[in-house]
Amino acid sequence: MPSDDRPHFLAFGGVDHTYRALAELGCTYSLIQDKSLVTAYQQETAVHLVLCDYEDVQLCLELARAMHRRRPLGYVLCLSEYPQRAAAAIAVELGLPTNCEPFAIEHTRDKFRFRDLLDALSVPNVPYRRVNSAQETEAFRAEAGGRIVVKPVSGAGSEGVYFVDAQEDTGRAFAHAQSVGREGVIAEKYVDGDEYSIETISKNGVHELIAATRKTVSGFPHFVELAHVQPFALGPRLGQVQALVFQALDGLRHKTGPAHTEVKVDDKAVHIIESQIRPGGDQLWEITRLTSGMDVARETICCLLGRPAPERVKTHPYVAICFFALAPTALAKEEILADFRPHPNVIRAVIDKIPGHSLSLTHSALRSGYVMAHHDSLDAAHSLARTEAARLVAHAADLEKR
Ligand SMILES: Nc1ncnc2c1ncn2[C@@H]1O[C@H](COP(=O)(O)OP(=O)(O)O)[C@@H](O)[C@H]1O
Ligand SMILES: [Mg+2]
Repeated sequence: MPSDDRPHFLAFGGVDHTYRALAELGCTYSLIQDKSLVTAYQQETAVHLVLCDYEDVQLCLELARAMHRRRPLGYVLCLSEYPQRAAAAIAVELGLPTNCEPFAIEHTRDKFRFRDLLDALSVPNVPYRRVNSAQETEAFRAEAGGRIVVKPVSGAGSEGVYFVDAQEDTGRAFAHAQSVGREGVIAEKYVDGDEYSIETISKNGVHELIAATRKTVSGFPHFVELAHVQPFALGPRLGQVQALVFQALDGLRHKTGPAHTEVKVDDKAVHIIESQIRPGGDQLWEITRLTSGMDVARETICCLLGRPAPERVKTHPYVAICFFALAPTALAKEEILADFRPHPNVIRAVIDKIPGHSLSLTHSALRSGYVMAHHDSLDAAHSLARTEAARLVAHAADLEKR
């Protein structure tokens, strides 16, 4: 029976991979989790497990104080976006090491403060404005050259995002972003270019670029993420992209743990779309582990503990993930997957949800599932994941007709 002086982490959100890593590294953890995300493994292994609204900072503070009195907490770990403010507040109050430093969290969870910070630091930025009405949005659009993106100030997964290039759409875009109810609405000048995300890990303030991911989004007006493929070679643009990303991370005073920065790159410039103090969503933590060997949970935990990083072992040269949306069906996901025979290079085919009725893909939570596949080139991996995702959608449609 392990003794109770094992390092005790307070963790938020997250997947079993993180909690298995903690156990394998000889640590215990208490968990504040969202009801929809809790797993059997977490129920079995957490010292304390609380299912609640983990975005409620005051509630989480009270819970953490109580847990800390019962069994002292040593570290605060949060690799998910929405509970980060609670994690940061607890780390400050209890004086604990964390991957969520309050300054970085406050300036990334809030897209408006992030843009303000880039300006204050003279980091290249895009024109932006907080807007409180359709009229203010339209006034900004006119000043910004006619093409803008309107979005919630602290959203994620493209929820509430809307592109506008004509006056008649401004009211709809503002209402769409505002309806999400995430701390108001920001409008930004639309920047052209190819879109990449940059996965980094920082250790005591030293940043390392682990991988660039080529990203495919659904296009106007909502830009929902449809595919990611990694590692993308940025070639001669690497130095410029890395310098910009590290400048932002320094400005954010980010010390330890992953960050995920989205950029758009055209012939002339690199623009930051957003930076988040967490690994990329959409399984990017896993894809990055497969293609680079960097296990973001293990490396962050080891850094917080002051231990050397584990060895990095790559398992696949190129990995892609493609998301799909199923047509409404009465079939269960198990029925659809039961006799679907994936290509041998498919790492996983997953159906998360079956749409009950026809819907337009306005944010990433409305996607039905994904196919992840590996191959020996970037384009081959992307093409295989896309083909297999399309085959799965067609397979579901065939079953539905029978
Ligand atoms: N200023 C912008 N210029 C061009 N495209 C943008 C801009 N802002 C957002 N987008 C597009 O919308 C997507 C979602 O915006 P983002 O700020 O990343 O919101 P979320 O937090 O929901 O991911 C981006 O991945 C990008 O494709
Ligand atoms: Mg984004």
